[in-house]
Parts: sequence; C-alpha cells; structure tokens
Amino acid sequence: MEKTGARRAPGQVRDAILKVLDEATAPLSVMEICDRVSAVTGPVPRSSIQSYLSLNTPRLFARESRGLYRPSAPTNLSLPLPLAPQEPLRPPFHFGRTSLFHAEALRWLDRRPARSIHAVVTDPPYGLHEYSPVQQRKLRERRGGVWRMPPSFDGHRRSPLPRFTTLTPDQLAQLERFFHEWGRKLRPRLVPGAHVFVASSPLLSFIVAGALARAGLERRGEIIRLTTTMRGGDRPKAAHAEFPEVSVMPRSNWEPWLLFREPIEGRVQDNLRRWKTGALRRPSKDKPFGDVIPSAPTRRAERAVASHPSLKPQAFLRQIVRAALPLGEGVVLDPFAGSGSTLAAAEAVGYSSIGLENDSEYFDLACGAIPKLARYTPSGTARPPR
Ligand SMILES: C[S@@+](CC[C@H](N)C(=O)[O-])C[C@H]1O[C@@H](n2cnc3c(N)ncnc32)[C@H](O)[C@@H]1O
Repeated sequence: MEKTGARRAPGQVRDAILKVLDEATAPLSVMEICDRVSAVTGPVPRSSIQSYLSLNTPRLFARESRGLYRPSAPTNLSLPLPLAPQEPLRPPFHFGRTSLFHAEALRWLDRRPARSIHAVVTDPPYGLHEYSPVQQRKLRERRGGVWRMPPSFDGHRRSPLPRFTTLTPDQLAQLERFFHEWGRKLRPRLVPGAHVFVASSPLLSFIVAGALARAGLERRGEIIRLTTTMRGGDRPKAAHAEFPEVSVMPRSNWEPWLLFREPIEGRVQDNLRRWKTGALRRPSKDKPFGDVIPSAPTRRAERAVASHPSLKPQAFLRQIVRAALPLGEGVVLDPFAGSGSTLAAAEAVGYSSIGLENDSEYFDLACGAIPKLARYTPSGTARPPR
C-alpha cells in the first residue's frame, strides 16, 4: 500500500493511526494524521493514510463531518509505539515558583516521575472540539462554530461560551474516554492523598466524575462556584414572541468543581506526615474549607491581561488553590493551563506550581499574563493568607 519503499511490520501504519487518533484531543484531518504518523514511523504518503482510513472505517475509525477522523470505539491505548517526536516547542517559562511547559498533557504525564505532584487544580477542555485548531480559528475570527458569542451587554463584549448542548452521543463517549485516560495517566504521578479539583459544567460533570472514579480516584465532593453565567435561560430559538413565558433550560448560576483524591496511605494523619497531603487547608484556624464559594465573574482588569475565553477569576482560584495543599507544601499541577490563571493563583499564595498548555498562542499569552495576574489584587477581597 505504501509507495515510499520503507519496510514496516504488518499493521504498523494502521496501529500508528490508531495511536495518533487516540492521543488527539479532537478529531483530525487526513493531513494532520499523516504528519503525526510520519513523525513516528517515517514518511508515509497521504494516499496510504487515506486508504487505511477508508479500509478501516467504520470498524476502527469514524469519519465526522468535513473529513475529520476519530477512533470509532475505545482502542488499546498501550499500543507499543515510540512517543512521537514533539513539534517545535517553546522553551519552558519560569517565574518565581511557577513553571509552564508548552506540552500536550497526556504525553507530558507519561514522562513525569512517579509520585511527584501534590495537587491538581484545572479547568480542562470539554467538547474536546472547542480547543481543536479548526474551532480555535473560528473563535479567533469570532465566527462561532462550537463557540457561542453572547450579545454585548452595557457596551461590553462578553466572553464566548462553548455550546455543550451540541455534543453528540459519540462525542460524549469520546469525552468519557479522554477523562478516563487522563485520570489513568495522572494517578501514578500523584502522591497518595493528592487532591484533584476539576472545573466542570452542570451538563457534563456526571461524565467526567464517572470517568475519574473509573480511573480509581476517590470522589470527595463537589465545590459550587456561585457565579452568574450566560448559560441557559433562553426562550425557544426563533419563537421568542410565541413563547414569551418559557425558558428552554434554567439560567445557570453556578459552576461545579469536582473534587477527587488519590487514595491515602494509612490514616489521614499518617498521610499528612509522610506526603503532606490527604486533607484540605482551612481558610483560617476557625473555619473549615467550604463547598459553596460565592464568586463574581472574572473582572475586566484580569481579562485585559489574559484574554482567554475561559479565564477564571483570581479571587476564586486563590481560595481553591490554597485549600489544595493542606500544609502549604508540595507542587500544584494545572495540566490545561490556558492563560496560566491557576499558576498565578499558586504564585500569589506562595505555592510551587507547574502548568501545561499545548496551544502556542495561549502558551505565549500565559507567559505574559502569569506575572501580572499573580500581582493582581482582586478588589473587595483580602489577599488570602500565605
Ligand atoms: C478551559 S481552558 C483553561 C483556561 C484557564 N482556566 C484560564 O483561566 O485561562 C483549557 C486549556 O487547555 C488547553 N488544552 C486542551 N487540550 C490540551 C492538552 N491535551 N494538553 C494541554 N493543554 C490542552 C487549551 O488550549 C486551553 O487553553
């Protein structure tokens, strides 16, 4: 089938395609598959990739609209394939106790030493599609796609929101597989008792929670971020006048943050002594960390330094990041760092942190934003104690 003359074991290209699609966080075009497979196995003509895809669709691969491919069903993710050489990556960025890497999260986790992360605080991609190059281009051109552009309000441009209601059952299954795989790769890198905070959405949190529990993390509750959102509350599309007293979905005024923990060793006190983890840090001696946190939407001043569509506010992030290390010791990881707001929050409360971001534009944005967000003082809030 291949014309390059390279001698390969039977099935090597097909397995490489499977591996590439399984590692991808969004469906890929034939050209993208060809580039990634060629980086691993040596050059493979595009026509061969196309033939393998056609021959094995729908058994192994599913073809989405516009010629994008994804695996059709869970595949064996531990296929014996060397790690793909990374595309040209930016050098790591360091600031204070913060390190940010231009890296794909699952691959980076594969190379991270065991038991070296003490907490995770993250706001991951959801539709998986919304951070694909195609959807990001649409967003940057403000052309929509999976991103909904809310109308301006009081003369202010509002942040775009991903439309999770458009996800198909296949895409939801893919989401479950992604989070399961993420949990599976994350767990060996966590110390016993490490807490994992994951920002979610009321529409998808059950899938993520199920996937992380299936990966073996212990569910420890859910933090409610009380915040006004632009989600839900709309009248039926194109029939507002006919149904003026109807909302299709509730206007959402909260955001769930799932809370999981790597199983502890022995009693909590034993785990605290040995690993410095296993519990949550109190905001003050007299007050336990609570699971409902009022939170104003992200301030304009923060958006001005970090124009990421999913920017979370420092006032909220600093509270949960601080709680994540019960003794204030260890390393906090944000594997989906975006503009680096979690890392800035860690820096502000005096913690060490590591961030990963695979989009080069957001990586560059974060390098500029982290020092500014870390210095930012949210109005009306006391800086959390260090
Ligand atoms: C929801 S955003 C996080 C935004 C963050 N809360 C902030 O305040 O800026 C998720 C980020 O994860 C990045 N991302 C998506 N898939 C990734 C992957 N597999 N590895 C690393 N980063 C990824 C996206 O580019 C996006 O910037």
